[in-house]
Amino acid sequence: MVNLGSGLTVAPGWIHVDGSLNALVSRLPKPLLKILYQWSDNRQWFSREQYVRILTEHRFVHHRLQYGVPLGDDTVDVIYSSHALEHIFPEEAQALLQDTYRALKPGGVIRLAVPDLEYALRLYQTGAKEQALEFFFSRNRSGYLNHHHYMYDFELLKNLLEKVGFVEVQRCGFRQGAMRDANILDNRPDETLFIEARK
Ligand SMILES: C[S@@+](CC[C@H](N)C(=O)[O-])C[C@H]1O[C@@H](n2cnc3c(N)ncnc32)[C@H](O)[C@@H]1O
Repeated sequence: MVNLGSGLTVAPGWIHVDGSLNALVSRLPKPLLKILYQWSDNRQWFSREQYVRILTEHRFVHHRLQYGVPLGDDTVDVIYSSHALEHIFPEEAQALLQDTYRALKPGGVIRLAVPDLEYALRLYQTGAKEQALEFFFSRNRSGYLNHHHYMYDFELLKNLLEKVGFVEVQRCGFRQGAMRDANILDNRPDETLFIEARK
């Protein structure tokens, strides 16, 4: 089970793939992690103890999504990616999804969660303009990995998944669907488009 662009959103037994400093330092000794915590961009969400526990009790791979899934052909049961696909350019996203298809076992499930373009546009149309603009132009200065490079609605993402070969593409509810641990990993229910497909 592979979580692409996991950040520190983790579940037991998963391989968490992320390009951040957190994933890079995850195997360092605890005293060093405690020191590095002060530079983590997750300080606002996690205490130092939580940060160290997440990094030491879960498996992380430091890896750029532009290089695909760091696992062999037909070896993965489930791929999950939440609020990460929009952080890479659309042609990179297509290549990544093509590679998730390669890595999944036949019949394997992919579950994607992205900020819903329709939700952002609705915010704009109903007057919440600043909130809508945040989806397109991040004010977060903590790093390039935190910026959005594209947005998807259901149709755009469904077409992309079908283009690379996935079948049974369907929209899912928050924490609902065929993928195990969606109840742990799914977050941001209001703004998120959840979608599952099968190889
Ligand atoms: C908005 S966070 C989402 C974290 C988590 N998946 C969640 O749903 O809470 C986006 C994550 O994707 C990672 N990321 C963004 N671009 C990436 C890239 N090109 N390669 C690897 N990781 C990337 C960031 O480091 C960050 O942890």
